[in-house]
Amino acid sequence: MSKVQSPVTSSDCIVDLDDVHLRLDSGAGPVNILRGVNLRVEPGERVGVVGPSGSGKSTMMMVMAGLERPSGGSVRVAGQDLGRLDEDGLARFRRRHVGIVFQAFHLVPTMTALENVAIPLEFAGAADAFDRARAGLEQVGLGHRIHHYPGQLSGGEQQRTALARAFVTEPSLLLADEPTGNLDIDTGATIVKLLFDLAERRGTTLVLITHDPSLAARCDRTVRLADGRIADDGLAARRARIQAAGE
Ligand SMILES: Nc1ncnc2c1ncn2[C@@H]1O[C@H](COP(=O)(O)OP(=O)(O)OP(=O)(O)O)[C@@H](O)[C@H]1O
Ligand SMILES: [Mg+2]
Repeated sequence: MSKVQSPVTSSDCIVDLDDVHLRLDSGAGPVNILRGVNLRVEPGERVGVVGPSGSGKSTMMMVMAGLERPSGGSVRVAGQDLGRLDEDGLARFRRRHVGIVFQAFHLVPTMTALENVAIPLEFAGAADAFDRARAGLEQVGLGHRIHHYPGQLSGGEQQRTALARAFVTEPSLLLADEPTGNLDIDTGATIVKLLFDLAERRGTTLVLITHDPSLAARCDRTVRLADGRIADDGLAARRARIQAAGE
């Protein structure tokens, strides 16, 4: 069910990308990766991002997370103009507002599941980091695996650990880049259910990159990228759905 009933026009959106450009230098010369991206996301909205390989989906997510600085345009997330923050400020901003889940899990191999989930809380100076990390792992059904190292966990268990780590700081924005890309269909379905349940429970805004149209269809709208631009922001389809539901 969509929590969002109105078109995204308000200034209180959680993500506001305004004419974002990103140009990087490669060995073969400069590449224009993002070429004027405009996108607004409302708090609590779930947005699926689709588009061909190389269209700029992961790069757009890195820009939203403050992990990549655009070469033009502005990026506002959770009311913060990321262009005004220095590297320390960006790191603090991420710890407070953003959770990220990657296709390749990105757990620290020398740390147990519990330690991996506790990392962001420890960075934030939480005194109860390990208690909260344990609760987070229990929420994803891994209470019996907390002292296992990533190498001792299955792919699905590693991704559940990564989900627990992403949600443990209660971020307002959760970014997920192909979170089921390395998992078999059944395990992927379990991860997707967990992801949506956790986001629903906490009212977390979700931006989910996927190649799977059925997964994108579970979101409130689908944004399509092509060649570094938004080819379709999904708003027309969402308005039509809302209208049809009201008739
Ligand atoms: N550091 C870099 N230097 C130069 N070009 C880059 C760099 N990172 C990404 N690119 C290029 O930018 C384009 C967009 O990459 P991006 O990873 O955002 O695509 P994507 O839509 O996520 O693709 P996929 O679906 O395959 O993950 C690609 O053509 C890629 O080769
Ligand atoms: Mg990608």
